[in-house]
Amino acid sequence: MFHIQTLNNIAPCGVNVFPKDQYEVTNNHENPDGILVRSFYMHDLDLPTNLKAVARAGAGVNNIPTEAYAEKGIVVFNTPGANANAVKELVIASLLLSSRNLVDGVLWAKSLQGNGELVPQLVEAGKKEYVGTELRGKTVGIIGLGAIGALIANDLLALEMDVMGYDPYVSVETAWALSRNVQRATTLEQLYATCDYITVHVPLNEQTKEMFNRMTFSQMKKGMRILNFSRGELVDEKALQEAIEDGTVATYVTDFPNDNVLTMKNVIPIPHLGASTYESEENCALMAAKQLKSFLETGNIRHS
Ligand code: MLT
Repeated sequence: MFHIQTLNNIAPCGVNVFPKDQYEVTNNHENPDGILVRSFYMHDLDLPTNLKAVARAGAGVNNIPTEAYAEKGIVVFNTPGANANAVKELVIASLLLSSRNLVDGVLWAKSLQGNGELVPQLVEAGKKEYVGTELRGKTVGIIGLGAIGALIANDLLALEMDVMGYDPYVSVETAWALSRNVQRATTLEQLYATCDYITVHVPLNEQTKEMFNRMTFSQMKKGMRILNFSRGELVDEKALQEAIEDGTVATYVTDFPNDNVLTMKNVIPIPHLGASTYESEENCALMAAKQLKSFLETGNIRHS
């Protein structure tokens, strides 16, 4: 009998992958063989002595102490691509809502409640106040052309944007899937100097931590907008505050709000909803559970 612990928010279809006569799946097992986890922060957990593998239902593994686990021979895997469509759709929505001042406009319209017959007249003021810009003809830079970045790149061409991608490690599959109309930047400096919008889709690691800092903000166009659906730590928040104040950054959309960014103007905070669709939760849970089952039974990881 294998013991599996589910740490949080794992869609039931993932749990159903494990036959009940061979697996016990609970959320409170003390010494599991395998763990299925979503975003739960595992760094403070005691290491279960039987643990052989951790399956992360999602892309980022920064909530897991991967190095400490590797030293003990515990395998960690994620679910590449399983939530890519969900993230792509929210990125496109965020590009649109930030360009059209939609968040402020909607909040303002709701604040008119109680003004009765005056509302139609007051709305005229909102039309002036919340004038936006169009995406067509603007340049968007996509940093990281993995499963998510490549989908975004191809789809933004349909909105008639000029699309520029940067990724020094593109896989052969992605290179084939990427439209030839996606220009490739050879350096980040080139992308920073050219783009009206930047969306970032890279893992958090020593190379990417605070990649948006005083120096890189100084290379960007005035009035540009940044979307961060990767991890909050990619941004040096002090430098961001300065870049917002001096007009370099017109909008910062972040799927990782914290106290510091919540107090800044021109920030659109999203409560980590990038992968939160029913479809994506099912895809991730299923892929993670199948991989974990395959690993425990055969010692191999199968992506399916
Ligand atoms: C990811 O890294 O893919 C996301 O954090 C997924 C999630 O929201 O669980």
